[in-house]
Amino acid sequence: MRKLERSLSILLVLALGLSLAVPAFAAETDILTRGKFVTALFEISGAKDTQAHQESFSDVPTDGTLAQAVRWAVDAKIVNGYGGGRFGPDDPVTREQMATMLYRNAQALGQGFQGAWMFLLDYPDADKISEYANEAMHWVVMHGIITGTDKGLEPQTYATEGQLSLVLQRWRSALGQSETHVFRYEGKKTIVTLDLSGGWTADYGAGAVYLYDGVDDGEKEAAAYGYVLEKWEYDENVDAYKSYDSFREVENGVKFSEDEGGRNKYLFSFGNGRYYMIAARMDLDAEAVYARFDVQDGGLDYLVLVNKLNALPDSWEDALETVTVTNSLGDEVEVEKKAYAAYELLKADLAKNDGIYIELDSARRSVAKQQEIMDRFTEQYGADYAAKTVAQPGYSEHHTGIALDLYFRLDGKDVYYNEDMIQYPAIWEKIHAKLADYGFILRYLKGKEHITGYGYEPWHIRYVDDTAVAKKIMSQPGLTLEEYLAGEQKPEVSIDYGTSKLYARDELNEAMIQIKCQFASWAGCELHSLRYAGDECNSAENIKWLNELDEGQNYVQVVEFLSDFHSPEFAYGAWEENIEYTDYQWWLARTANGGWQLLTWGY
Ligand code: DAL
Ligand code: ZN
Repeated sequence: MRKLERSLSILLVLALGLSLAVPAFAAETDILTRGKFVTALFEISGAKDTQAHQESFSDVPTDGTLAQAVRWAVDAKIVNGYGGGRFGPDDPVTREQMATMLYRNAQALGQGFQGAWMFLLDYPDADKISEYANEAMHWVVMHGIITGTDKGLEPQTYATEGQLSLVLQRWRSALGQSETHVFRYEGKKTIVTLDLSGGWTADYGAGAVYLYDGVDDGEKEAAAYGYVLEKWEYDENVDAYKSYDSFREVENGVKFSEDEGGRNKYLFSFGNGRYYMIAARMDLDAEAVYARFDVQDGGLDYLVLVNKLNALPDSWEDALETVTVTNSLGDEVEVEKKAYAAYELLKADLAKNDGIYIELDSARRSVAKQQEIMDRFTEQYGADYAAKTVAQPGYSEHHTGIALDLYFRLDGKDVYYNEDMIQYPAIWEKIHAKLADYGFILRYLKGKEHITGYGYEPWHIRYVDDTAVAKKIMSQPGLTLEEYLAGEQKPEVSIDYGTSKLYARDELNEAMIQIKCQFASWAGCELHSLRYAGDECNSAENIKWLNELDEGQNYVQVVEFLSDFHSPEFAYGAWEENIEYTDYQWWLARTANGGWQLLTWGY
């Protein structure tokens, strides 16, 4: 928690129209005082001032945040006064006192130890803990709120302001009060942990977080408040955060946007670090609201969708790390690092427990390599077969490095031609049964050709990193990644099947999965409704049009849907920012014996 007076010094600079030269302060190593700690706890708890409080302290002002915080903390029995009308707001707080106050607050919220809980604290200085702080220290250590430094728990050492921030964050997550969100965008993941107090709320979009401050005072607010965003960085040597940068307005990926419904709204798209958004009233000297959020680069988005409709995201390679290994045929295979580590474990398990010896045929492929394969298949088997078997260059999951084609060794021989491998369903069954345990799924399922666009491929496995997700996808009878992503969409999409003499509900559902799945890749867009457009869509004219659009097929039926959806607030691509698109069209067609193909969408 940042101190208000420090922010105010920056605000003063802003108010005087001086440039924002960040004053160098070493406050993170400042000793934490009782007054600061109680104030931080009061603010982060979102607690209300205690009206019924009688006692007053000679060393605490009667108004302002400190006064409110002290009244609240004393009444909630989080901390006592000293007697003689003193509170000691400037006295330092030791680490065990900090633990005690956190523990009492947790108890006031119905948390803390229940029944027998005795266990030993494995630190060299555990015996230095005072009797009164013993239970509290056990609880905070158990929850990882205080983790100890290289010197141990240091119960009698004074806590610092830099530690306060971290301790409060951990304390709030122990109480389930902070929220973690994962944003998936352009093939990468960003993990944002939000810790909002003082009425701040958050919303999320494509690669961005929107914060709304906690105060609604209409038009006056923008003038009355000053805003500062500060970035801090973690220093593992001292287990604390250090201030790093301070900026405002559009600098460093921060965009202030309009007042919305009386509350100010901010948009962030930022790099790693810890950020504090501080809004302090310029006309008052003791009021501030805070939002704190941690942004962590989550690396590759292992749920990325690359299929006939979705090319490899442009930024994928920025976060990609690969290894190159040699298989039993002596070929070099390039694989994404984490997927390879998981593959090694799968391979060892299958060898040890099933006597099955898998090998890697192909994993990461360049666009040029994919073109080579496409050309070879087209020449050998014709364009039709090639299209159902090989992805168009740019649209192959193999470009990611997390799609792996397996083969196996049987009786000392390599079995690697598709037509040979397919002869061993019992072996594939055993391999597939273990995939999810290692974070893999089967990508091209039997009977789902109309969704994936490709025939059954028992050898093509795909790493998704999360075993729980893999298990859900691989649970019988099995989902395609398209179906899984379509099902994960929030909020629920309202569906209207209309009335149709041509298509049963299942047939319409199959078409809608394709739409929802395509939609799932439009980061920041929110699909609200899907409506069947009616049987007149299946006109001779439309059938002709879609056959022209995708030449070489013989489509015999057409289906059209209409949808309403909201575009991202943070514009990218061709979207118009933050509007509701209505009656947006989706067109699919199918051949006499094929499934629906999503062919075009738009107005
Ligand atoms: N065989 C799969 C579909 C690919 O070429 O990526
Ligand atoms: Zn493959």
